[in-house]
Amino acid sequence: MLNGLKNLEYRGYDSAGIAVSENGAIKLYKRQGKLANLENEASLQKVTSNTGIGHTRWATHGIPNETNAHPHISGNVTLVHNGIIENYNELKAFLLDKGVTFNSQTDTEVACAYINYIYEEMKQHFNEENLKLKAILKACSDFRGSYAFGIMFKDEPNTIYATRKDSPLIVGLSDDGNFIASDISAILEYTKRYMLLDYMEIAKISTDTVTVYNEKLETIDKKINEATWSATECKKNGYDHFMLKEINEQPIAIKDVYKRYFENQDENYDKVDFSKYTNINIVACGSAMHASLVGKYLFENYANIPTTVDIASEYRYKKQLLTPTTLVVIVSQSGETADSLAALRISKEKGATTLAIINAVGSTIAREADITIYTHAGPEIAVATTKGYTTQVATFGCLAMNAMKQKNIQTEFNKEKIEFDKIDKILTSVIANIEEYRKIAKYLSDKNDIFFIGRGNDYNMCMEGSLKLKEISYIHSEAYPAGELKHGTISLVEEGTPVIAIATEKELYEKTVSNIKETKARGAFTILISTEEFKDTYTEDFADIALFLPTTTTFNEGIVVVTALQLIAYETAKLRGCDIDKPKNLAKSVTVE
Ligand code: M6R
Repeated sequence: MLNGLKNLEYRGYDSAGIAVSENGAIKLYKRQGKLANLENEASLQKVTSNTGIGHTRWATHGIPNETNAHPHISGNVTLVHNGIIENYNELKAFLLDKGVTFNSQTDTEVACAYINYIYEEMKQHFNEENLKLKAILKACSDFRGSYAFGIMFKDEPNTIYATRKDSPLIVGLSDDGNFIASDISAILEYTKRYMLLDYMEIAKISTDTVTVYNEKLETIDKKINEATWSATECKKNGYDHFMLKEINEQPIAIKDVYKRYFENQDENYDKVDFSKYTNINIVACGSAMHASLVGKYLFENYANIPTTVDIASEYRYKKQLLTPTTLVVIVSQSGETADSLAALRISKEKGATTLAIINAVGSTIAREADITIYTHAGPEIAVATTKGYTTQVATFGCLAMNAMKQKNIQTEFNKEKIEFDKIDKILTSVIANIEEYRKIAKYLSDKNDIFFIGRGNDYNMCMEGSLKLKEISYIHSEAYPAGELKHGTISLVEEGTPVIAIATEKELYEKTVSNIKETKARGAFTILISTEEFKDTYTEDFADIALFLPTTTTFNEGIVVVTALQLIAYETAKLRGCDIDKPKNLAKSVTVE
């Protein structure tokens, strides 16, 4: 169980705990901080048990401490929970009124106490089988919000019950025992076989049996899936960090995206008929939203399709102007991001056709969208996304090319033009430039504020570069359209303030150079990131440092530049001694609103 939790450490957490059944009793072990604190717990070394539930917590309700850590116990029930019970205050008031007491500040303890309350009530009135299943389902029908629960009962200590709504949960099957986990990567070392639970389904699990029930408590046959990811793919394999390993996996991952498209290996591309849609609405969070901005650029500039990009956390609270000819595209590496999932569901409810661009196979968004195109980047463990983002950009490139083809727009973008045969070598050479990135990182590592500027698609790259830098190095940075800086923000530029300018577009290059000069005139230390075709135009009077990357097609330029920016962020964070794979305060999968 501890090993499983360790495999999910990358998701970010602040405390950990397990509950095990031993000699007919349920024992609890919890620790604040890293999993190692729990592992070193002396009494834990002596445990012999084959049934238990474990959890790493990323605090939402109540500070990260031992009391708030999961599992929680209330009467007969011990439980771990991912998600948020939104009406916990209401339920807590109800339970307090009934004399129930609480130790923690969490919504989870309320869920635990509520299930226990319903179970005890039912026990007094009914004497039938399946009372625990009934109690869990009844309690869940009163919960608002999201949950994936692993539940044990004191009076049946060798059984685990599991159910979910909106938070991921899988049931792993093996000859040596059965598992529940929020992600297959937790248990890949033990099994590749797993079932996905749907809303209002509940699994009853023991070491040798798994029974899944629907809400009517009928047993149901679930499809058994075979994971395509291997346990080795989830290891560092000699790299210092997962982030570095994943950056290095990009040449192959990008080539594979193009290969699937050009060699017609993914029929889902042709399921999207762009001639039917008058507009596209892309919805995503964080880096996936940045990749979507590149998607917008490609759809509008090459396929002439008006495209909007919405931040998923804002989407459900705004008016969605969807028509029957709007294509809604949801982009998500994990396929489990709560806000992106909510956006998908609203769009479907409103009758739009939905397309999902997803990495994690079988994830909730992938299953619920009308059409899903997988990026197949493989497991991404580092919290900061790298190959997740670039494979999304490449997928948008393929979709834009297909849209041009379907709309009979003259396109020069064929296999040769996209440099299909060279893209892996180009990216490998970009990654090999490490000394250049170290030089820039050395300059950035002791700074407090950094600006990224660029125009057009270069600005989209700035946004991703800036996010990468701040999330792993903790240096404040901002991305600005180069021409916008002088409308206020340039007042923050002081002697030595680093300004990183991305300039790769022919039509915009000179304009961006003028904007770089404006910042240099105010004392900025300017770093130009451009492509080899502009090398001859470079003079030190506008850029203190210049980095020239291989010139490639617009479809790939974002991938090339962002790969360099990922490495600059990586080297900067390394110099600052940051926890690169698990930056503070962050979680890999944001399954709460
Ligand atoms: O799994 P998703 O692609 O839906 O995740 C979206 C964001 O949470 C994610 O891109 C986040 O911004 C990353 N930490 C950025 O590196």
